[in-house]
Formats: sequence, structure tokens, C-alpha cells
Amino acid sequence: MSGWSVRTAAIAGLVGVAVFGAGLLAGRLGQHRPAPSTPSVASGKKPFSPPPDGAFPHTPFGREAALGREIFVDTGRAAPQFVGNDLKCVNCHLDAGRLPNSAPMWAAYVMFPQYRAKNGHVNTFAERIQGCFRYSMNGRAPPLGDKVLVALESYAAYLATGAPHGASLPGQGYPKLKPAPLPPDSGRGRGVYTMYCAMCHGPDGAGQSSGAAVVFPPLWGPRSYNWGAGIAQIDTAAAFIKANMPYSQGGRLSDQQAWDVAAYIDSRPRPQDPRYTGSVAETRARFHNSAQSMYGKAASGVLLGGDGPPKPFAPRAR
Ligand code: HEC
Ligand code: HEC
Repeated sequence: MSGWSVRTAAIAGLVGVAVFGAGLLAGRLGQHRPAPSTPSVASGKKPFSPPPDGAFPHTPFGREAALGREIFVDTGRAAPQFVGNDLKCVNCHLDAGRLPNSAPMWAAYVMFPQYRAKNGHVNTFAERIQGCFRYSMNGRAPPLGDKVLVALESYAAYLATGAPHGASLPGQGYPKLKPAPLPPDSGRGRGVYTMYCAMCHGPDGAGQSSGAAVVFPPLWGPRSYNWGAGIAQIDTAAAFIKANMPYSQGGRLSDQQAWDVAAYIDSRPRPQDPRYTGSVAETRARFHNSAQSMYGKAASGVLLGGDGPPKPFAPRAR
């Protein structure tokens, strides 16, 4: 079985027929189509199709790309030296980085090198991946030229086979959400969470495992993404959630529900921002000075980010 089908089977086991019904489990959990709100439909442009999954050429490049896929879908096992939480690349870039509106790798690859306001200079693709290791994976960035980066970049290049370089392809990134009618509210979001998310991600946001395998990734707490991650920003989380969650049911939540539940999960404790300066107020002023970040604010009596310097790097136990 491929990594994807192993996880899909495990998901089916944990969710149980009682929650979703046999039809959905057999059909929709294994099927990865664009969310109903996909911009490719709205713009009428034909979406780009990456090559079939796993059909790597028998060449040195093909072997490197195959290794990249393995790292992408099982990051903590294939690159444990760089991963500090229970997440994998595929948790936020669904269907092994192939799904439109889930920041797919084929659409990202053709957009680099690219200026990023986050660090104020032109980034190569490898540097962009380093960022996801440092923040989303709460880990350590592999040094430039490291085998892990070369493999991941090769995989993305492979997925982008035939895509026009520099083109903004439909399905790139997570489609931005317009402001909701009401400002995002974590109190309402808690209700959305209980109704649509807790059965998989757990009432405490810690996710669920089956033996050593993390089946439902943690959304907050010490094993999730840190405060520096893109998805720790409410607008980015809302965009991801609207298009991709509940799992396999992208587009199901209203915009308001997506904003509210994003405000809720991004108002929970999580690992310190690795750019922490020694002061929460100063770190907020430098890196989180926007309504999209709850860093440095109080939620349920807890000062978010107020738990001191980043914990020493601890690779995920295997
Ligand atoms: C916790 C969620 C999360 C995880 C885990 C994660 N990413 Fe990301 N990634 C994001 C977000 C959010 C963005 C920003 C997307 C946007 O701004 O539209 C992003 C963007 C990217 C981009 C640029 C996409 C684009 O279209 O410009 C690349 C490349 C990327 N990630 C690679 C990776 C790789 C490789 C891994 C694993 C080592 C990984 N990511 C793990 C959330 C995540
Ligand atoms: C049927 C189970 C299920 C439900 C219900 C569900 N999710 Fe998920 N969620 C997943 C799975 C599985 C992944 C990882 C996807 C992958 O690896 O292919 C995920 C990934 C995520 C991620 C990115 C990874 C991380 O840990 O941060 C976020 C954020 C998220 N879900 C939020 C939500 C929210 C909010 C809801 C409710 C609106 C929700 N999910 C409902 C199964 C579910």
C-alpha cells in the first residue's frame, strides 16, 4: 500500500462508520478533487495536471524525486533530524502536495525565486522549504544543499513537469477568503470546532494516533506548528480550512465558520516562535503586529507565547 492509502485506511478505522457512513468512507476519503470553491472553475481556466502519482522516471532525477515524495508524506520518519513536532508536509499540502487549493507543490515550484515580505529578500525554492521546516514543522531548517532539500525540490520540480515557469496557476496557494460578515470570534469558533473538527483532531486539539502513526495531526499544543508558521495567522488558517476541512469536505463550512474556527485554533497555546527576542511584547511588535495574529494576547487567561524561550530542539521520537 502507498503511504496515502495506509493513512486513508487508518482514517477510516479511527473515524468509524458511525460518524461518516460507509459510502463516504469508501468514496470521498479516497478521492481528491478540488474543493467546490476552486478558482479554476470560477475563472474558467483549465487546471494544470501534475504527472500521475508515483510514476517517477528510472533516472537519477526520478530516484531523487521519489525520495522527496517519501519525505513529503512521512517527514518525521524520513527526515527526523529536522522535524520537531508530529506534523508532515502532506498534512497541510494534501494528496502528497498535488491537491489544488492546498498550496500544491507544482504551482509553488514555478513561482520561485520570489520576494517574500516575511524575510525581506528574494527566496529560492529551497529557502522557502527551509521556512516550513523551521515554523510549520517546529524543527530545524536543513542546510542549503542538504539531501533532504534536494529531494523535496526534485519532487516539486517533477510535479511541475510541463507547467509554464513564472505562471500563476489556478489552484496555487490557499484561496484567500473575503472578510466574513462578522469579525472572527473564537467563542463561536469553539462551537464550530466541537461540531466539525473535534471528532478527528480531538477535543484538546492534540490529534489522534494509531500506534506510532499520527492519523489526525495536532492543531495546537506542544506537538503542533509554532507561532512563526503561516497557518498561525488567522487569515491563512481560515483559507486553508475553508478549502480543505473537514477532511475531504472542502467548501462545506461557511466563510464565517471558517474564520471563526481559525480564530479559535489560532488562540490556543503552541510552541514559541523561534524568532523570540526574549520579550513577548517585542516579539509581537516585530513579527506579529497584525490583527491576524493572537501572539502576545491573552486567551482564556493564558498569555499566548508567554512560556519563555523556545524549547531545545527535540526530534520526533520514532
Ligand atoms: C502546519 C501546516 C504546514 C506544514 C506542516 C507545512 N506547510 Fe508548507 N505551507 C504552509 C502554509 C500556510 C503556506 C503558505 C501558503 C500561502 O501563503 O498561500 C505554505 C507554503 C509552502 C510552500 C510555498 C507554496 C506557494 O504556493 O508559494 C512550499 C514550497 C511549502 N510550503 C513546502 C512545505 C514542505 C516541503 C513541508 C514539509 C517539510 C511543508 N511545507 C509543511 C503550511 C504548512
Ligand atoms: C474526518 C477527519 C477530520 C475532520 C472532521 C477534520 N480534519 Fe483537519 N485534518 C484531518 C487530516 C487527516 C489532516 C491531515 C491531512 C493529510 O495528511 O492528508 C488534517 C489536517 C488539518 C490541518 C493542518 C495540519 C495541522 O495539524 O495543523 C488543520 C489546520 C486542520 N486539519 C483543521 C481542521 C478544522 C478546523 C476542522 C473542522 C472544521 C477539521 N480539521 C476537521 C482530518 C480531519
